[in-house]
Amino acid sequence: MKIIQITDTHISHLGGTTNVNAERAIRFINALEPDFVIHTGDVTIMDPDEDRDRATAQEILAGIAAPWRALPGNHDVGEPGDSPFADRAVTSERVAAYRAHFGDDRFVERVGEWAVVGFNSELFGSGLPEEAEQWAWLEGLPELVGPHPVLVFTHKPVRAPSPELQNPHVAVGAESLPRLEELLARLDVRGYGSGHLHHYALTARDGAPVVSAPATAFTAGSSAGDEVTGPGLKQLGVVEYGIADGVVTPRFRAPADLVEADLLEIASVREALAAMGFDLAQIGVEA
Ligand SMILES: [Fe+2]
Ligand SMILES: [Fe+2]
Repeated sequence: MKIIQITDTHISHLGGTTNVNAERAIRFINALEPDFVIHTGDVTIMDPDEDRDRATAQEILAGIAAPWRALPGNHDVGEPGDSPFADRAVTSERVAAYRAHFGDDRFVERVGEWAVVGFNSELFGSGLPEEAEQWAWLEGLPELVGPHPVLVFTHKPVRAPSPELQNPHVAVGAESLPRLEELLARLDVRGYGSGHLHHYALTARDGAPVVSAPATAFTAGSSAGDEVTGPGLKQLGVVEYGIADGVVTPRFRAPADLVEADLLEIASVREALAAMGFDLAQIGVEA
């Protein structure tokens, strides 16, 4: 059995290399004939309030041939914490807009004998009613999942690359982590996958692989250094989870035709940031 994780497509209604890469990655994924595809968020380019990006993303993701689900990232619904990126805090309205286009932001999908569990990392610590609903749903997971082995997917990693980075910019916030750990410990978790860090890294926890999946849109270079992401492969691609005899084997996979680019080299990113009110000149970038 085969599950593919694609993440951080950052699709724009303006087109550009992020869209080209998403389309190429999807063609590559379709050729691998997976049983299931999971998109772990940052579906859209930058601004959670830009509906045109969601519409374009919907069209592109419709090209995925296998059954698939998506999860929201901070660029899709905003983020929790005191200083959310570009002042876009996660709100009920932004979560509702995401759900209207891409379906529920938490789910259990049966794939063969396995349960693929996905939930919204941007709600932890938000204080929104949706956070309380998600906690209640997490409490009920053992019943929803039954005896099946579990793969857990989120946009931001459950655990940050280092304890001092356990904050809502990087991962699930430190105040929420112990409760989440306790709830996940009730499940037979055989693997974790997340996005957000725009690099590929494979570590392990209690014998289960922990994957930080590479983006398809742009590499981490300009946005975050190793001190934030931890060591990893800064190359665009997707992750293939081979599943056999109860064991999950993740592999970095990359189509040869992805356009490797750094965040601010991409015209549609610069336009999106400018439209959000960023003064690009101040950070030394020509819009
Ligand atoms: Fe991202
Ligand atoms: Fe992100």
